[in-house]
Amino acid sequence: MNLNIALLPGDGIGPEVLAQSVKCLQAVEETFNHHFNFKEAVVGAIAIDRKGTPLPDATLKLCKEADAVLFGAIGDPKFDNNPEAKVRPEQGLLKLRKELGLYTNIRPVKVFPSLIQNSPLRPDIIAGTDFTIYRELTGGIYFGEKHLNEDGTVASDLCTYSEKEISRIAHMAFKAAKNRRNKLTLVDKANVLESSRLWRKVVTRIGESYPEVTLEYMFVDNAAMQIILNPKQFDVILTENMFGDIISDEGSVIGGSIGLLASASVGDDNALFEPIHGSYPQAKGMDIANPIASILSVAMLLEHFGLYEEAMAVREAVDKSLKKGVVTPDLLADSQYGTNQVGDYVAENIVDNGEDFNMNDENIDLGKSTII
Ligand code: IPM
Ligand code: MG
Repeated sequence: MNLNIALLPGDGIGPEVLAQSVKCLQAVEETFNHHFNFKEAVVGAIAIDRKGTPLPDATLKLCKEADAVLFGAIGDPKFDNNPEAKVRPEQGLLKLRKELGLYTNIRPVKVFPSLIQNSPLRPDIIAGTDFTIYRELTGGIYFGEKHLNEDGTVASDLCTYSEKEISRIAHMAFKAAKNRRNKLTLVDKANVLESSRLWRKVVTRIGESYPEVTLEYMFVDNAAMQIILNPKQFDVILTENMFGDIISDEGSVIGGSIGLLASASVGDDNALFEPIHGSYPQAKGMDIANPIASILSVAMLLEHFGLYEEAMAVREAVDKSLKKGVVTPDLLADSQYGTNQVGDYVAENIVDNGEDFNMNDENIDLGKSTII
């Protein structure tokens, strides 16, 4: 298969983790005989510094023309700490999501058995957790009208949803539930918010076309508690933009590190793949950032194009690195491996897929750091 992939490394650790994903895609090319054509563009704080805007036209054009976008991370503390800033890196990502029509954000939360001890939650609570969050990504309070009064003392952000915006992601979520364990939980705040009541009405109606899927409703405050108390109860969670933003970070705690969670953002014409973590500026250039979330977003990219065997090879290589302890320090405090080495190891195991033994495993088992 030929694919044009737009690379948007962005800010902070974005370029470092994205470089590992590219290695993995190159390993997939080599092993499975595909051709991936990469083109890179700036987005976020780096784009503001270089071009004066977080999403330059050339970047948007490249993304629109590409088959898929692979995104690193966005954000810089110099903007976070300045509430007066008129341009912000995050605006680049939000505009990109809107312009590409990426209304469905898919965030799988799964516990890797080899990492169960890493979670701050008890193993008996989290073992077997496997749910996917369907977060609406181009509507709601993120994109509603914003207002600040003249003397800067009163502000508002409007949360608006239309039936159409709800129904298109609802269908995606119901279909996903049908292919999983037939359960969908709509997370909302229908006891307070009018927009949530519209979500309930539309989702309930659509649910009638998916009789095999059990539809449950949960208020977001309760959901925040249930995700920690009993995460195994969830299969597919469907929710609006901001609730999804919040509970997906919460979900990442279950797996022990936010550095493990990947996401796909899809619309009718475009698709973008990115880790759910941010730009982690403190770790920039230190070779300690966990590249696994970014690499797993490559697996989601491959699945999006029906390349299931290839995606499996990536996932198996990731599993192997976790089992062998070839991981960054967020997962193993005294780990001797950096971002690059983890990326090299995973990529190398994609190539060697099918072989149980890899030349460097002997060194790893002996605790030597030379893995390549
Ligand atoms: C995410 C991020 C973004 C969001 C930020 C960077 C704008 O937190 O993808 O979850 O809030 O959607
Ligand atoms: Mg977020």
